[in-house]
Amino acid sequence: MPPSATYYFPTGFLWGTATSSHQVEGNNTNNNWYQWENEPGRILHGHRSGLACDWWGGRWREDFDRAAETGQNAHRLSIEWSRIQPTPERWDEDALDYYREMIRGLYQRNMTPLVTLHHFTDPIWLYEQGGWENEEAPHYFERYVAKVVEALKDYVSLWVTINEPNVYVYGGYLGGGFPPGKNDLRTAFQVLVNLVKGHAAAYQAIHRIQKTARVGIALNYRSFRPARPWFPLDTWITNFLHQGFNAAFPEAITHGKLRFATFRAEIPAAVKTQDFFGLNYYSRDLISFNPFSKTGFFYTARYPQEAELSDTGFLANVPEGIYEGLAWAKRYGLPIIITENGVEDADDDLRPRYLIQHLHQVWRAVNFNWQIKGYFHWSLVDNFEWERGWTQRFGLWGLEVETQRRIRRPSVDLYAEICKTNSLSAEMVQRFAPEIYAKLFPE
Ligand code: GAL
Repeated sequence: MPPSATYYFPTGFLWGTATSSHQVEGNNTNNNWYQWENEPGRILHGHRSGLACDWWGGRWREDFDRAAETGQNAHRLSIEWSRIQPTPERWDEDALDYYREMIRGLYQRNMTPLVTLHHFTDPIWLYEQGGWENEEAPHYFERYVAKVVEALKDYVSLWVTINEPNVYVYGGYLGGGFPPGKNDLRTAFQVLVNLVKGHAAAYQAIHRIQKTARVGIALNYRSFRPARPWFPLDTWITNFLHQGFNAAFPEAITHGKLRFATFRAEIPAAVKTQDFFGLNYYSRDLISFNPFSKTGFFYTARYPQEAELSDTGFLANVPEGIYEGLAWAKRYGLPIIITENGVEDADDDLRPRYLIQHLHQVWRAVNFNWQIKGYFHWSLVDNFEWERGWTQRFGLWGLEVETQRRIRRPSVDLYAEICKTNSLSAEMVQRFAPEIYAKLFPE
């Protein structure tokens, strides 16, 4: 008889998926990403977000039904700033009403909402004033956040101010393919400072309006490892990247001190402005010191040779990295929510295995009584993947973009069983990913 066991999660664990406004709503024509998509050469194959998953047209209803019917008890979504404040002087109350209806829709389906206030996109009017390079941006952000929280406070108490500030800065200001397409370290730092200030201002505003609020960010944690552990320069550059990419932002909103590359700033207003640690984890990089690297930062990154890669080679399946990320995040002494984790996999060959292996690592952490409160899989349905357009399929459900048809992938049923039983069992692994059974449930 093969060993049979069940890995249980704590009572009240949040099980959901994560989405973001621009990636699922469609017809977002008033933000910087819309402009970016319309510039030739910016998005792979010239793809556009277009109708996306047509949530603004109402298809959130059917997708929330799918999520609820498959046992999810929570959902992370984002509010599109450019819809709420189409111009600096105007608030769109109808847009706010629509979001209220969506979030009520989660309640009616017994799902807890986690609301992100900024997920990569900026209103065109802000973009034209320099976006987050502009010192006024934190102030604008605070006003918008106060407006949204006032409108949604009866339904939402879990808030993410800014999604992946580290990726936003890397993407837009260090050559990562996001608007405004700059590559300048000093500007990157300036933007980071303003994002920290914006987060801090938003944190205070939310708590002023809502006493029960729990506020955090969603940090993209990359598991960086030296490619040649015996070579000191590899270790040095790995630590440098870890500090700049992973640690800088959480440190700043804990101690009020921002350390990024050679830059330093004191931001006292940001001290202790985080109630939970939101962690997004996707993959690990092996880092080599390389003075000739084209990145301009003296390093090259590659995936571990033995790790399997996702469809387009965008991610490597390294489940231990999520455990490492949790162990690191735990030092902040806050409850942790895994705000994103997932893989692009159109045929759903890798996803069941990726999901099981990552949740097994989360379970290990939970078992030490680390305060992990929930897991949000990226994503519910295939959606517009930024500069990679529609080439990457992260959904539990597939999307046929031309027809809006949803396609149920096997991972839907796997995740449903996990959510419904609040556990991962040997028997599930045997059915959905028999190839890793012996590894996960050793005799
Ligand atoms: C994250 C981002 C999401 C989604 C995901 C998969 O960095 O927050 O919006 O695109 O990656 O690529």
